[in-house]
Amino acid sequence: MKTNSCSTESADKKECAGSTNLFSPLTLRSITFRNRIGVSPMCQYYSKDGFADDWHLVHLGSRAVGGAGLVIVEASAVEARGRITPDDLGIYKDEHIAKLKQITGFISSFGAVPGIQIAHAGRKASSKNPWKEGNRHDKLAVSNEDGGWDIVGPSAIAFSETSKLPTALSVTEIKEIQQKFVDAAKRSLEAGFTFLEIHAAHGYLLHSFYSPLSNQRSDEYGGSFENRIRFLVETVQAVRKTWPDNLPLSVRLSASDWVEGGWSVDDSVELSKELKKLGVDIIDCSSGNIRSGDRYNMHPAWQVPLAESVRNQAKIPTAAVGMISDSKLANEIITQGKADMVLLARQMMRDPYWPYHAAQELGIEAITIPRNYSYAL
Ligand SMILES: Cc1cc2nc3c(=O)[nH]c(=O)nc-3n(C[C@H](O)[C@H](O)[C@H](O)COP(=O)(O)O)c2cc1C
Repeated sequence: MKTNSCSTESADKKECAGSTNLFSPLTLRSITFRNRIGVSPMCQYYSKDGFADDWHLVHLGSRAVGGAGLVIVEASAVEARGRITPDDLGIYKDEHIAKLKQITGFISSFGAVPGIQIAHAGRKASSKNPWKEGNRHDKLAVSNEDGGWDIVGPSAIAFSETSKLPTALSVTEIKEIQQKFVDAAKRSLEAGFTFLEIHAAHGYLLHSFYSPLSNQRSDEYGGSFENRIRFLVETVQAVRKTWPDNLPLSVRLSASDWVEGGWSVDDSVELSKELKKLGVDIIDCSSGNIRSGDRYNMHPAWQVPLAESVRNQAKIPTAAVGMISDSKLANEIITQGKADMVLLARQMMRDPYWPYHAAQELGIEAITIPRNYSYAL
């Protein structure tokens, strides 16, 4: 059996290279993750007025019991208007905190780090619940008469033919939304989260500002690279002031739009250098989804090169995500220095005990089974 003795604090520290594997602890600021396996945020579309439910406790709690090092709660809207669907989770009311606190308490008690992704859906908001409507890609709008709402974005450009037309935000409104991210960060802290992720991917509000495909503004929030990243940069600055110095902050990027003339991985490297200076600790490298109809060349680990480029060129820790379900592949991503953490979504739905199974497959004695289950050994 191999053992883990190496803890890497940053991508700059190379001394652990070689001995670091999927089950090596990772330390970011004061938080140590017991391994490099995270549960990627996954919308459950199971909330009323943004409230978490027993479902969230069981779903997320199971994955902490299952051995993940980090469990990230799904995209949680910073304002009601920023929900993708009327059934999204939210963190826009103080009343949301109590149930989330129960969830973080449970996750922590089983050794995982409780994380939350704070989000604003922007021009993809007020869409139908995909589970109910069979609506996966195009964002079918919910009319205001049916409980939907008016939506906002960088410019008056709709995401798809079936989504609503957003109103371009004024600068005053941009500042108001930034304050809502700050308020959401404060509530996250109060709820017991020790890892905070700002959702700036998948065509939602922050991504729609930095991508030239959706931002056609002519003010200081549009046009040049510096202007398009301004909304995210200012949001990170404001959140970092609120989010304690000893706790890690993550940003999920769509690290490429995969479209000629769109946002590129080189842009992500430059942006990540800025975010690092502002106190971001890890870049979660997802991609795409800025326009309906774009399709991607997806295959196992297809987004890992994005995480690798950002990690090695911007010198910041990264998380890799996307069709990582094979334990050997996941381990190689870490041992080969392509990312500092892997995030799994669908595979974690299939197998909440994936970390145990991966440890067995890799022959790494890294995870202790919860006492309650010791009879199963
Ligand atoms: C049901 C479902 C819900 C998702 N919800 C979110 C979300 O809330 N926030 C987010 O950034 N990504 C979300 N994603 C994307 C995943 O976090 C992940 O990036 C993607 O599924 C690729 O990983 P996988 O191949 O392991 O599933 C969701 C994916 C699924 C399948």
